[in-house]
Amino acid sequence: MNAPAKTEDFVAPGAENKPAGIPDNVYAETVLAVEHYTDFLFRFRMTRPAGFRFRSGEFAMIGLVVGDKPIYRAYSIASPSWDEELEFFSIKVPDGPLTSHLQKIKPGDTVLMRKKPTGTLVLDALTPGKRLYMFSTGTGIAPFASLIRDPETYEKFDEVILTHTCREVAELKYGFDLMEEIRNHEFLSEIVGDKLKHYPTVTRDPSYSNQGRITDLIESGKLFTDLGVPPLEPATDRGMICGSTEMLKDTKALLEAAGLTEGANSQPAEFVIERAFVG
Ligand code: A2P
Repeated sequence: MNAPAKTEDFVAPGAENKPAGIPDNVYAETVLAVEHYTDFLFRFRMTRPAGFRFRSGEFAMIGLVVGDKPIYRAYSIASPSWDEELEFFSIKVPDGPLTSHLQKIKPGDTVLMRKKPTGTLVLDALTPGKRLYMFSTGTGIAPFASLIRDPETYEKFDEVILTHTCREVAELKYGFDLMEEIRNHEFLSEIVGDKLKHYPTVTRDPSYSNQGRITDLIESGKLFTDLGVPPLEPATDRGMICGSTEMLKDTKALLEAAGLTEGANSQPAEFVIERAFVG
């Protein structure tokens, strides 16, 4: 007979590999791939729990057991809602409570994720429009990495403009890789077509052609001239902003000056904002 002799021999399904110290009410997922871009930036992919649902653009609490207790930080989910895996784009802070450990993860390691995703950078929080601007600095590109790979974005908008500003050109690589992935993707390439425009700029690297803070480029009108589009217009244009607190404040002021109103899940309007969390 195969029945275990003692109660302790029973192991809950899926719990066989759960390392010690992991709370019961969180997902414990397996790292599948890690890519380091610079000394301060990396991305990783991990398994997606069965039954975990989210809207493209939302964030989740990601964590690791450090010592004997878990530490969590908010991370935008960078993969689209249809993806079988989850992707995250992270900064590495040398003495950061979470990222100093997270930057060392390898395929096969366990990463924790709290069960409920949330966030305002979702298509549902915007009223219908023609052109969607996604304004990002640094790791603020992560929620847009999700949205630009979601077919629903292109069902709702004729034109999608992703701006990404970093200090140096090496920090733009994740964005370039995303564009290439979409171009080479079996079904996304057809859905996206020429609707998606990427507008990368740097502020502290003279070696690159596109220079300047996005706020200055909006104010001077250079962004619109370069893209060949009219200036911001509430009837047609929608915006999403993700970056540092200061960048959000300054970009929001420019959108409001152009007549756009901030929205939320409960009250969709013309633009939405979210802080790029791990700084
Ligand atoms: P700058 O180099 O002129 O400060 P950080 O690494 O400090 O978060 O900055 C990421 C990018 O965001 C940098 O290119 C930085 O430009 C830019 N940035 C910082 N603050 C603002 C702001 N208030 N408005 C627009 N861009 C900003």
